Amino acid sequence: MKGILLAGGAGSRLRPSTNAVSKQLIPIYDKPMIYYPLSVLMLAGVREIALISSPRDLPAYKNLFGDGAQLGLKFTYIEQPRPQGIAQALPLAEDFLAGGPCAFILGDNIFYGREFAKLLPDAASAAKGARVFAYHVKNPQNYGTVRLDRNFRPLKLQEKPKKPFSPWAITGLYFYDNNAVKYAKQIKPSARGELEITDINRLYLKSGALQVQPLGRGIAWLDTGTHEGLIEASTFIHMLEKRQGLKIACLEAIAYKKGWISKKTLTAAARSMAGSEYGAYLAAVAKEIGGKYDIF
Ligand code: G1P
Repeated sequence: MKGILLAGGAGSRLRPSTNAVSKQLIPIYDKPMIYYPLSVLMLAGVREIALISSPRDLPAYKNLFGDGAQLGLKFTYIEQPRPQGIAQALPLAEDFLAGGPCAFILGDNIFYGREFAKLLPDAASAAKGARVFAYHVKNPQNYGTVRLDRNFRPLKLQEKPKKPFSPWAITGLYFYDNNAVKYAKQIKPSARGELEITDINRLYLKSGALQVQPLGRGIAWLDTGTHEGLIEASTFIHMLEKRQGLKIACLEAIAYKKGWISKKTLTAAARSMAGSEYGAYLAAVAKEIGGKYDIF
């Protein structure tokens, strides 16, 4: 399965921090925000990834990831000339997907939890329809929301409802079969002028092909849409990494443990980042024979 990583949007709520820098490059504690959703694609086993961003920001992502070989990945870069909504990413990636399914993740979504990581391979191997994830939140009006029946089957979807009808938000991770691009071409801009991902999910729901996986306690899905959200996410990552001595979303370590890169490549990455805590961590992972770093 191929992956789409969307680093779009104007970042309006984070100005002036986003006046010259892409929102998804802002650090969350010790690494750029985009590392976290990229780690999710990697944990799902996705290695061919299209990164979509604005003409202004695409060069920065190319500097960061290059062709992806140092992570055992293959990157394609696609320009989104003007931000017209999340669903626009799908037709932009049409050639890249070549009629196949995809794992689509928003570049500002941070997930954490072993139980979450366990759900990914199954979602990636589902042959038909769409699989999305629902998370219980206090502020559903800020998200795409879903009403679920008592068996957690989806009944209704709405994007940022003024009067929320359910506490379940739909997260920014979507596994789609090959109908997604076709659906994306059918939808029209919403009242706020955007091509909404919720409208794609609604078409899957209409055809009886939308599966909603609720994410329960013990899994974190963090908001990075506001300055407060950023500091809270950074504090959360800092606290866990400091306590456990295990890095979260350490891309080279994931690639190494998956057998996608060699020890030599890992050591080279450690050397290139010598002097940073991240580089020291990579060096430690390269020296480790089994044991503690196997705890993802
Ligand atoms: C977008 C989607 C929304 C989803 C959210 C997840 O919202 O439109 O359905 O719940 O991402 O992060 P936005 O980032 O545009 O506020």
